Amino acid sequence: MTNSQRIKHILKSGQPGETLTIQGWVRTKRSAKKFTFIEVNDGSSMNGLQVIASEDIPGYETHMERVSTGASVQITGTLAESPGKGQSVELQASDIEVFGESDGETYPLQKKRHSFEFLRTIGHLRSRTNTLGAVFRVRNACAIAIHEFFWKRDFLWMHTPILTASDCEGAGEMFTVTRFNLDSIPQSESGKADYSQDFFGRPAYLTVSGQLEAEIMSMAFSNVYTFGPTFRAENSNTARHLAEFWMVEPEMAFCNLEGNMDLAEAFLKHVFSYVMENCADDMAFFNQRIEKTVLETAENIIDNDFERVTYTDAIALLERAIKNSDKTFEFPVEWGIDLQSEHERYLAEELFKKPVIVTDYPAEIKAFYMRLNDDNKTVAAMDVLAPRIGEIIGGAQREERLDVLERRITEAGLPKEDYWWYLDLRRYGTVPHAGFGLGFERLVQFMTGMSNIRDVIPFPRTPDNLDF
Ligand code: 4AD
Ligand code: MG
Repeated sequence: MTNSQRIKHILKSGQPGETLTIQGWVRTKRSAKKFTFIEVNDGSSMNGLQVIASEDIPGYETHMERVSTGASVQITGTLAESPGKGQSVELQASDIEVFGESDGETYPLQKKRHSFEFLRTIGHLRSRTNTLGAVFRVRNACAIAIHEFFWKRDFLWMHTPILTASDCEGAGEMFTVTRFNLDSIPQSESGKADYSQDFFGRPAYLTVSGQLEAEIMSMAFSNVYTFGPTFRAENSNTARHLAEFWMVEPEMAFCNLEGNMDLAEAFLKHVFSYVMENCADDMAFFNQRIEKTVLETAENIIDNDFERVTYTDAIALLERAIKNSDKTFEFPVEWGIDLQSEHERYLAEELFKKPVIVTDYPAEIKAFYMRLNDDNKTVAAMDVLAPRIGEIIGGAQREERLDVLERRITEAGLPKEDYWWYLDLRRYGTVPHAGFGLGFERLVQFMTGMSNIRDVIPFPRTPDNLDF
């Protein structure tokens, strides 16, 4: 047996009179007097193929008893022009095979609309719904677009490790990895865990970012990117945080903050264009059923320049909004604060109504590796803030000066020994370089208008949630 013709191609270019075989899962079944309508979906497109089984096909009665919503079928037949609305062809069945029945009484996906909360409890079945189907096709298209973008620009895709000893962001939000039996951890004399007896002979973690390794590779290949899973043990139960999420991290040698911003902007434009071109039906569905600004947002991204403001100006804009009593925020605004999601959304969603790149944040609130500006107060950081989402990209020009970097590591309270190889890169052929990290799920959220990040990754990992 081999996978037969996929339904999306049949719907697009199938010709009446053609004989063919399809395979998929029954979405709906409707019985009339002498025949039955069966809608079959194989995941290749939003729309399924309408099949008409008439009572004179062999074994009609038995087959129709076994065909129900959720059942898996293989159907051979002849295409005919469809009189029905919204479809060009339908399949007149001549032979039906049911692989797996599905008990209509207990099958959790009934014809009614289910809430996304409920669908999360059936993560093994939810991909068979219209919305999740569209999400995962768009997610796939985003990934293809990303690889295409970098391939065309001579960036090498580098696979950075998931197991690591270092905390890239220095935020202490890492999951520990061990092969100790947690009920009997070997202890040293001081009563602490004796990691010398553990697998790596030292504490090990799941990576929070592939950036530091990407920096290593950019010092050999000039332009590289990573695209893989990253992990954060932050206890943030929000609609924008996952404990396991995918990150895309380009890193460029011979590049400053401006080059970094230009790349981020071209990158997002490319991904939106690609998805609009290749997933038009799915995008139209999101616009109609999920969030009515989806298509407008996509066009806006593709056609317009992003706004660029410094952190200092952004703070002034927020203060002005408060002063003019246009706006109240839960968190106070003053120079030095880390922008909260409400501040980010005000700037992108209400004030500029498009993505905003905020640059030059206070050094105190950003990671040790960001390049210190001449004012000695701010760093060459950039965050891309998107309407509805807030921060979608975080990046920076990196500190390439050995002495400044050493000082920053010490000031951040990090052990310098752990970063010996990172510092070595500044000893041997150091160069101005820059890069950023895009939260892949936040991109898919932004693109589709889905309000919860748990619904744009097949198997979300969040606090207290590890099913499937
Ligand atoms: O801003 P972050 O922490 O930056 C870094 O990790 C850098 N090392 C990236 C780099 O310069 N190479 O994370 C980057 C992006 C954020 O802008 C956000 O979109 C996403 O990753 N992100 C998360 N997405 C989902 N769940 C979480 N818990 C996330 N934390 C960050
Ligand atoms: Mg960030």
